Amino acid sequence: MTSIKDQYQQSPLLELKHVRKQYGQGCCHCHQHVQDLEHNFCPVCGTVYALRDINLSLYPGEILGVVGESGSGKSTLMQIAYFDQEATSGQFHIQHPQVQGQNLFEVSKQTKKWVRHQLLGMVYQNPMLGLRMNFSAMANISEKMIAASNRHVGSMRQRSQELLDVVNIPLRRASEPPKNFSGGMQQRVQIAKALSNNPPILLLDEVTTGLDLSVQADVLELIKTIQRDLGISMMVVSHDLAVIRMLADRTVVMHQGKIVEQGLTDQILEDPQAAFTQKLVYSLL
Ligand SMILES: Nc1ncnc2c1ncn2[C@@H]1O[C@H](COP(=O)(O)OP(=O)(O)OP(=O)(O)O)[C@@H](O)[C@H]1O
Ligand SMILES: [Mg+2]
Ligand SMILES: [Zn+2]
Repeated sequence: MTSIKDQYQQSPLLELKHVRKQYGQGCCHCHQHVQDLEHNFCPVCGTVYALRDINLSLYPGEILGVVGESGSGKSTLMQIAYFDQEATSGQFHIQHPQVQGQNLFEVSKQTKKWVRHQLLGMVYQNPMLGLRMNFSAMANISEKMIAASNRHVGSMRQRSQELLDVVNIPLRRASEPPKNFSGGMQQRVQIAKALSNNPPILLLDEVTTGLDLSVQADVLELIKTIQRDLGISMMVVSHDLAVIRMLADRTVVMHQGKIVEQGLTDQILEDPQAAFTQKLVYSLL
């Protein structure tokens, strides 16, 4: 077994550097002082800086927690990493022979699609964004395989069944559409879909938010099992420190579009440094 120390001496699997996402053109008041704005928007021109100079690394085999209050930029970060949204500026690297050394924000559309479907899996905060509610569970999972150029119906069917089994959805329900499923089951179908092409990286956005506590516990347990069995690296977004505590080896804390603190999860929870993290941690006690 590699120790945590060895793990972080390897090079990162995924890296985001100086990532900015702004909505609006900016003005002479905010242009030069984005980092100094008190909030994530310019009080003069109203431009929103959803992400301001985000730097983070995801290491092989780890679960990285991303925690922060509503509006801090967590979903924006996930959606940029999954190419649902374009970053305004910055660099994005994934360690893989096919895209080594390339800034993934600047590669061709086809390469982005390839990365999205071969190297990444995404579970959306809102299952409506991740699933077609009127298609069968099996068709939903196959959709991502087709996007990754699988055309073999028999192998897709078999793989979908395997995955539904992994996420504990009974096979007899495989042809039902997710709109018939409970919230917890919908998130399980999203997880199965995200895993379909065996990606080395999973992005999970508030995967348990809005679920009953007992269902939440099941989904969290499933995520831990998948991480243990498949060794997939994960970025797990939550506004809930209890979820982060249960899942994440390391955690970054976001506030107003910036990372205000990062470190081992235990250390952050025991000895939070940033004022915002202290508020978050003590509100949990
Ligand atoms: N299309 C848009 N135009 C302008 N502002 C936007 C747009 N989309 C998001 N924002 C703003 O970007 C900021 C970050 O939003 P984001 O959804 O990433 O937050 P979050 O941390 O995921 O919040 P939550 O915990 O509520 O899901 C917010 O201030 C939001 O209002
Ligand atoms: Mg969000
Ligand atoms: Zn401005």
